[in-house]
Order: sequence, then C-alpha cells, then structure tokens
Amino acid sequence: MHSTAAATGALLTGCSLATKRARLVAGLSDAFQKDFRLGTSVKNHTLDTTDAPLLSLIAQEFNAITADNAMKWDALQPALKVFNWQRADQFVEFGRRHDMRMVGHVLVWHKQTPERVFRNHLDESDTPAFASRTQLLGRMEDHIGTVVDRYRADITEWDVVNEAIEGGKWLKSHWYNIIGPEYVQYAFQFARDANPNATLIYNDYGVTNPKKQDAILDLLKRVKKSGVKVDGVGMQCHLSLEDGYPSTKMIEQAIVRFAREGYQVFITELDVDVLPRAWQHVRQPPLQPLHIDEFTASEIRALDPYAANFPDPVSEQLGDRYASVFDVFMRHADKIPRVTLWGTSDSESWKNNWPILGRTNYPLLFDHARKPKKAYFRVLDVAQRQ
Ligand code: G3I
Repeated sequence: MHSTAAATGALLTGCSLATKRARLVAGLSDAFQKDFRLGTSVKNHTLDTTDAPLLSLIAQEFNAITADNAMKWDALQPALKVFNWQRADQFVEFGRRHDMRMVGHVLVWHKQTPERVFRNHLDESDTPAFASRTQLLGRMEDHIGTVVDRYRADITEWDVVNEAIEGGKWLKSHWYNIIGPEYVQYAFQFARDANPNATLIYNDYGVTNPKKQDAILDLLKRVKKSGVKVDGVGMQCHLSLEDGYPSTKMIEQAIVRFAREGYQVFITELDVDVLPRAWQHVRQPPLQPLHIDEFTASEIRALDPYAANFPDPVSEQLGDRYASVFDVFMRHADKIPRVTLWGTSDSESWKNNWPILGRTNYPLLFDHARKPKKAYFRVLDVAQRQ
C-alpha cells in the first residue's frame, strides 16, 4: 500500500514546478497508473538487511519489482539440484505484501550461472568435459520447471532468456555451443509448460542497434516457427548522458519496430550513466574492471568527476534526458506495459562499479541519500502533463 504521508514527505524536498502538483499523487507509479506499471529492481543487500526505509520508499513509489540478483541461476540453484529459496521468497513476500507486479529475472543467461551446470558431472577431473546436449537440456528443464512452478501464483512475468545476441550474431555462450540456437525455444517452451498464463519476455541490451534488432527478430521468428509463444521484448535501456547514446529517436524506432512485429515492449532496466565512458579500461579477457584507486590523480579527476557532489547543470541534463525518454514511453504507452528502473537510489546502482569499480555515479531518480532528484520531478512532470 502507498503511504501518502511518506510520499508527501519525499516530494516536498523537490524544487520544480511539478512539486505542487506532486502533492496530489502518492508516488511515481500512481502518476503513471493509466499509462504503464512503473518498476524498480531490488538488490540482495536490501533483502538481506531488510532495509526498511528503502523498502518503504520502493513500496511508495513503484508498483512492480524485479530482483536484481536473487533469482539468477547461481542464487537459486548454486549446486546441481540444491535450491536456495531464502532471498527469492523474501522478494516475493515483499511484493505480495504491497500488491506489486513481480518480475522473475532471469531463467537462462550465460552469466551468473555456475560453470558446473555446463559440465559432465560424472567426469570428476579438474576440468571436466562439457555436458552433453541432452544433459544440459535436462538441467534447463528442471531449473525452469522448478523455479517457475514454485512462484506460479505470484510471478506472472518472466525474463526467460537474457542477452542471447551480441551485435548482430548469436553469442557463442555455453548454452549456444552445447544446445545450438534451439536453446532459446526450449527455454520458452519449459517456462510456458510450467506456467501457461505467464507473460514471457526475451530481454536484451543495446536493442536500439538495427543489426541487433534484426538478429533478435530472427531469433524470435525461430521460436514462433517452433510453435512456442513469446509475449514480449525487454529493452534494457542502459543509457548514457555523455554522448546522448542511444538517441531518443533510436529508442522510439526500436519500440515501434518490436510492437509492429507483434510483441509487447517492456522497458526492463532503465538507468542513465552520467560518468565518462570508460570501457577501454576493462581488462580482457576475462572482463575485469579496475578500481578507481588504481588510476593516477589526474585520471581520477577525469574519470570520476562528481565524487564530491553532483553539479546542478549535470543534474539538469539528467532531468532533460529522463524527461525525453519518458515522453517517448508515454507516446507509446499502448505498446508498453511496464517501465522498470534498474535500482531506486544512486548508491545501489551497478553503474558505481562498472566499467570501473568504486566511482560515484548518479544514474537513477533518487540520490545517494535516497532523496528524489530533479530527474524524479521531470519524470513526474511528464506523467502529469498528459
Ligand atoms: O555480493 C558480492 C559481494 O559479497 C562481494 O564482496 C563483491 C565483490 O565484487 O561482489 C558482490 O557481488 C556482486 C553482485 O553484483 C552484487 O552486488 C558481483 O561482483 C557483481 O558482478 C554483480 O553484478 C550484477 C551484474 O548483473 C552481474 O552480471 C549487478 O548487481 C546486477 O545489477 C547486474 O544486472 C544485469 C542484469 O541482470 C542483466 N542486464 C545487465 C544488468 C547490468 O549488468
């Protein structure tokens, strides 16, 4: 349930024109009630510490939640047939208590899946051989069936497969290498069997790239041809302020294209990185970020410019960027059932630690002290302008 008193307390700290009107709504998701669900992700740390102030802020502002790590394979099934439900159950219990839409994230991904899943368990050598196709499909069926069935009554939206495409091609993950491209249709089939009424989503990043869109639509065609239904495409939407990429126009084109092909469009992981791009500093392979303390003082000033505070002009720019993407989401609200932010307060964002560890980023709507930012009020303004 939303707490109007708490919401008003939060909103009164804002400073835009929207502030006066903001008093009329209990939280952001109320403002978008007629348009789409507004969600956020919940971190393990929040669940582990039962961070009451953050949980009540989430309940007040959002009406959908995604677990950012608690429902990934390594969290739910750390060893073969050994399931750990504690955090996921807490997540579901929280969602239930506040009558929120719960999103299951994610059933099949190449990351955060124990290496042993892909290995032949009978081979006890230090580097066991890969599992056979049949073994791996069996494990996938068992995992998806067990997890989807357990939360059948509560979780009605699943990110079934995450990031199967890289650029314009299939990512050569263990899933792909062992099972072949059919792994995607099997994953959707197993999820559909376990909960025929669930909304099943294919989720990916960088989907504003037309080549990636082509490859995703090919993948979805394959699944459709096999007789399995995919309901939606998840556009992650990890955006950048520095170069304005991807442009609002590209985001809009992607939404329109996926919708035209018959898919609901979910904005699944929205955030806006305000720091300089720094991909060149990631050590590869394996993908390993450096810590900001490993750089020289002048590099630190350039790479982590807002460590002490977030300057007003940049905060304004962030507000502009959020307002422009929410304008697009509103224009296409008939195609978009949900917009989810990848976190609530800046302090919990993965962007503080990627692609460099230990920077101070400001990608979300609530600041490091969990107070609503200018961007929050700009987004609220978009909802109330319509
Ligand atoms: O919990 C451990 C902690 O005990 C340890 O001391 C610390 C040392 O690095 O690591 C902590 O684990 C980190 C975990 O997040 C919890 O914060 C992992 O290193 C870190 O890799 C992990 O990152 C997650 C990332 O997925 C990994 O793939 C992020 O939290 C999570 O937000 C992010 O989410 C993904 C989506 O699932 C898919 N789309 C992209 C998105 C962003 O990468």
